[in-house]
Parts: sequence; C-alpha cells; structure tokens
Amino acid sequence: MINVKQTKKEFLNFFQDKKLKKVLDLGCGKGLMSLFFSKKGIKTKGIDVKELLSEKPDNFEFVLGNVVKEDFGRDNDLIIASLILHFFNKDKVHKLFEKIKKATSKRGYNFIICMSEKDSMKNEGKFFPTKEEILSFYPGWKVEKELQDETEIEEHPNVPPHKHNLIFLILKNEQT
Ligand SMILES: C[S@@+](CC[C@H](N)C(=O)[O-])C[C@H]1O[C@@H](n2cnc3c(N)ncnc32)[C@H](O)[C@@H]1O
Repeated sequence: MINVKQTKKEFLNFFQDKKLKKVLDLGCGKGLMSLFFSKKGIKTKGIDVKELLSEKPDNFEFVLGNVVKEDFGRDNDLIIASLILHFFNKDKVHKLFEKIKKATSKRGYNFIICMSEKDSMKNEGKFFPTKEEILSFYPGWKVEKELQDETEIEEHPNVPPHKHNLIFLILKNEQT
C-alpha cells in the first residue's frame, strides 16, 4: 500500500541529480510537482484547464489551457503527466503520447502517474491502462523507475471512501 504524496516525492527525488533545463507539467493542478523543479531554478511550465495556483513562483510559467490544444514546445528535458490520463478517451490517448514524445529532448524523461485498469474508479471508455499498454507507446525508451500499487483509503467530498490502483513510471528517451 502506498501513500501518494510520499511516493510522488520518492519519484521526484530520482531527478535530484539530473541536469534538467526545461520541465513541462501537464495538468499541473496546484503545481506541487512543478514547484519541485522551479524552486531549483529550472525553467518550468505548467498547463491546466483550471487556474489553481494562488501565486506564481519564480521560474514557473502557468498556461491556462487544454493540453490537447496547447503547444508543448520542443526539447523539454522532462514532461510530467500526473493523474491526468484518466480524463482521456482510450481511443484518442495515443495522440497525446505522440505529442508528449515529440516535445521531449533526446535523453529526456517522461514521468507518468496514472490510475490503472485495476482502479476502483475505472471507466470503460477512458484510459485506465496496464503498465504494458503505457510501455507500448514507448519503444526505444528505457524504464528508469516503476511502481504499481494500491493507495491508502482516500476520502473526498461527494464520493464514498475509496482506494486507487496507481502506476508510476519514469521513462528515458534512448532513441537514436
Ligand atoms: C487529479 S489533478 C492532478 C494534478 C497534479 N498533476 C497532481 O498530480 O497533483 C488533474 C488535473 O488535470 C487537469 N486537467 C484535466 N484535463 C485536462 C486537460 N485536457 N488539459 C489540461 N488540464 C487538464 C485538471 O484541471 C486537474 O487540475
């Protein structure tokens, strides 16, 4: 069983000694993942359909927009997609993966956190993948760090207490 906050931190620590110049955080929410990088002076951009950040930290650019339409730029050393993929239709998500990979630098990283096919909130039309399904989008990329596990029981307003089954993956672009 995992604590999501702690596991996110543990995965973020993987990047502690990596030389990153540019980070893009898709569906950044309150920007907690982004802050880890912007605080270190790394140029970080977050895109979200909702403006949830109360203040804009240094080195952080927030774009209010839909990741389907926004330009991801090029040569991002790290693109994060944390808990956003379940919003996407299963049959359309490949377009997002292509866009993410195209915008990642050579030897750059993708950090994915998503609800798996074992998640209690699984919705048939949406993307709740197996780890293998995610990896099928990444031929030629190396798995640097991975984990799949159930979360502790979570309680949010308007839904009964529930657990999630999450996949954490850090992938490195090793294509030539
Ligand atoms: C569960 S939150 C995750 C926030 C953050 N990534 C994290 O891990 O803490 C999902 C976020 O994705 C955003 N989102 C959903 N669909 C989006 C889209 N198509 N484009 C941009 N943001 C989106 C939501 O507004 C929300 O802030």
